[in-house]
Amino acid sequence: MEIVKLNLKRRTYNIIIGSNILGRLGKEICKLKLGDTAYIITNALIKNKYAGKLTKALKRSGIDVIYKTVPDSEQSKSIKISTQVIIDIARYDKKRRIFIIAFGGGVIGDLSGFIASIYKRGIPYIQIPTTLLAQVDSSIGGKTAVDLIEGKNLVGAFYQPRLVLSDVRLLNTLSKRQVLSGLAEVIKYGIIKDRQLFTYLERNYQDILDLEPGALEHIVARCSLIKANIVEQDEKEEKEIRTILNFGHTIGHAIEAASSYKKHTHGEGIALGMLAAVDISRRLNLINQSISQRIEKLIKLVGLPIRIRKLPLKGIINAHYHDKKFIGKKNRFVLLEDIGKTKIVVNIPSKIIREAILRIGE
Ligand code: GLY
Repeated sequence: MEIVKLNLKRRTYNIIIGSNILGRLGKEICKLKLGDTAYIITNALIKNKYAGKLTKALKRSGIDVIYKTVPDSEQSKSIKISTQVIIDIARYDKKRRIFIIAFGGGVIGDLSGFIASIYKRGIPYIQIPTTLLAQVDSSIGGKTAVDLIEGKNLVGAFYQPRLVLSDVRLLNTLSKRQVLSGLAEVIKYGIIKDRQLFTYLERNYQDILDLEPGALEHIVARCSLIKANIVEQDEKEEKEIRTILNFGHTIGHAIEAASSYKKHTHGEGIALGMLAAVDISRRLNLINQSISQRIEKLIKLVGLPIRIRKLPLKGIINAHYHDKKFIGKKNRFVLLEDIGKTKIVVNIPSKIIREAILRIGE
């Protein structure tokens, strides 16, 4: 088991990573004095699989449990569902001290954090991420949000959890596609910040795909540490430090949006977006071809896509203008100088962006 501390003065919290560690949850909650009733936001699938274990771990420490299931899709990240859940919490919250547990992937984490941030001007919440993507990224760092028709994550706040508990045993029931979606973010951490992690992935990717607990624990702990360090330095993404986590996301999100979030998982979009960012870096002579080939080789080896069929070029170009990192009309990309070293570049000629996007088409 490993513990990564995310230092934010009075809002410091631990990220506990291990295999089969749900059982220690009650004790951790009691140490933090979060309350007497856990309001657990989850989906039906996860509840069916793991509620028995979770309930036992909490009841053993005298904590009451209430489960609230929401649909298992991005549609749950809405004002409507958050209002329904808040009204439900208020009904229970008479003689109890309620705290929230986000028990699920990124959608449930973002929704639960958002609800925790606004109900009674903020109540405690903890994250128990159940996907690789959520364990290495969205459960850490306090970004909470729901979507509007006008765009994803438009309503939300920075609101840190009091604890993140990442049990890699919960990843056993993920599909290969879900594992790969998280693995794309793990590769991203190696590329932007950790050459050793990148080499580890080149050598051990098969163990990760086989869900070997030691390998999973290693990558989740390593990524959690990198993310914690970044968030400690730039919690609210004001200093171009947290921005580097968006490597590959400008074109990646545009690919997801242009294909209506259906055709590609987040990780598939990010894998392709990273390749586009690598290609832009090479065209600007920031990196040489051997680095871009090494990155493409790893993405391909693990089984993530390196090309899109029927590339929706126009849609991707239109969608990428909505990137939150753009300043006015000036584009702003996280690019590479080496594996483990990023550079933020503004105002890249649109011809170069277009060529890089065309390259990921088949
Ligand atoms: N997922 C990017 C961030 O937390 O900043």
